[in-house]
Amino acid sequence: TIPPEILRFSENIGNFALVIKGEPGSGKTIFSLQYIAEQSEKKSGIYFSTRVDIDSLYSQFPWIKESIPPENIVDATQSILPKKMEVPQFIKFSSLPEFLKGLYTAIEEKRTEKFSPIVVVDSIDAVASSVGLPVEDVCAKIIDVAKGAEVGVIIITERTERTALDYICDGVVTFKRKLIDERLFRELVIEKLRGVEIENPIYYFTLHGGKFRYFDEFRPIELTTFIHEPHPPVRDGKGTKFYEKNMFSTGSKIIDKIVGGYKRGSFVFLEVTGEVPPEFIVENIAGVPVENFLMQDRGVIIVPCKGLSPLYFFEFYAALVGREKVQKNCKIIIPSEDKDVEKRFPWLVYTSYRVDHFVNTVNSIINEFKREKEDNVLLFLCFDKIESDFGSRGAEKIAMKIISRVKFEKDLCIGTAFPSTKIDVKLREAADYFFKTFGKKGRVFIYGVSPPTVIYNANIDFSRPHPTLYFTPIT
Ligand SMILES: Nc1ncnc2c1ncn2[C@@H]1O[C@H](COP(=O)(O)OP(=O)(O)O)[C@@H](O)[C@H]1O
Ligand SMILES: [Mg+2]
Repeated sequence: TIPPEILRFSENIGNFALVIKGEPGSGKTIFSLQYIAEQSEKKSGIYFSTRVDIDSLYSQFPWIKESIPPENIVDATQSILPKKMEVPQFIKFSSLPEFLKGLYTAIEEKRTEKFSPIVVVDSIDAVASSVGLPVEDVCAKIIDVAKGAEVGVIIITERTERTALDYICDGVVTFKRKLIDERLFRELVIEKLRGVEIENPIYYFTLHGGKFRYFDEFRPIELTTFIHEPHPPVRDGKGTKFYEKNMFSTGSKIIDKIVGGYKRGSFVFLEVTGEVPPEFIVENIAGVPVENFLMQDRGVIIVPCKGLSPLYFFEFYAALVGREKVQKNCKIIIPSEDKDVEKRFPWLVYTSYRVDHFVNTVNSIINEFKREKEDNVLLFLCFDKIESDFGSRGAEKIAMKIISRVKFEKDLCIGTAFPSTKIDVKLREAADYFFKTFGKKGRVFIYGVSPPTVIYNANIDFSRPHPTLYFTPIT
């Protein structure tokens, strides 16, 4: 879970000095503890802490017990109260020489044939203020001792501006805590790492559960490789809890936990900003209910988005639920100028570019499904395509007609659009559930505006027999 560049850096340079910068709460402590924990096969960490209470450190981060035993935790400031646990090398650090002596002694005591120590100073600001010297001087001296003893050192500072620390140290990493739409977002920026090519200078991460974890690129399901084992649906028909509560499942247990399902008769709107891979639109919030309806043999009507062919949609859902279910339960609608397009696939329905013809076609498919299945239907409409085919007024008409029928007949409609489309604002107004998704460097994130949620990273878990969409909250 540590970015590979940082691992390579610390392996290449044994006696490295890495400075970790960031405002309070940005994850510096968690990251450095975790770095030590992950190196625990070859290295034992000596943690110079400004916290007085070891117990609270262990109770917050129980997983560090093995890699940083209590005797390896040193009070980095002159502590007034001795810690609860015995710290054999407990020293009062009232001056820099005393601190450096303490540092040196601790390093030599911890050095064994199997383990070479690695030092974390959390934080240098606190040490400097307790010995009453400038941070730069203290830092340079600590690095001298560490290099002399041939051990790596991680220096933590809350000073985020450019300082002399940047060139004194071999590596600089900055932790950032940002707000996107008033929601927490976290970034780690690799500023420099001596001797290492930095492939990826920015990592997005979470501290969920008190652990640092960065996010991987979104990996779409590959359609050509194999057909996946269909998973049992989240049942939400007659006799289920969802049905009693007048709800549909979102199609995903994880999303059900977050929003509690969708009220029957809802319009769910997904606004897509930035560089979101189109495959993600098919797979995420919009994709899981399609799968869930198809598995329960309910009718699904899809208008594909621009840039993805109807065949892609067909193949995609076929890979997840099997071709039969898609052929039986799904219709994909596209307008076509060609008057006598041959009916190439039974699941493909052509309409003209006339708004009323399009709406009538949708309505008659809904009617047919309802007659045949006596159950609710799901519509998944990509309004970017509808707007480019029918113009913004046409798209608005289509949206309002279909959404009002869905609300009246207690069906479910999922719509997607970009903020750049004219219809976007109308869809927001009509939405019972409103999600936003955005992409950064191939990673995808999603959050609820209504209901409001934190930002989640979304990806697909391929380790199960059925690929499963999962969300990781950014906390
Ligand atoms: N168990 C937890 N679950 C979720 N978030 C946590 C948990 N523990 C810590 N955090 C998050 O981590 C932050 C503190 O991280 P920390 O590494 O101590 O920051 P820093 O050392 O940069 O001040 C908290 O503000 C909180 O947002
Ligand atoms: Mg801290």
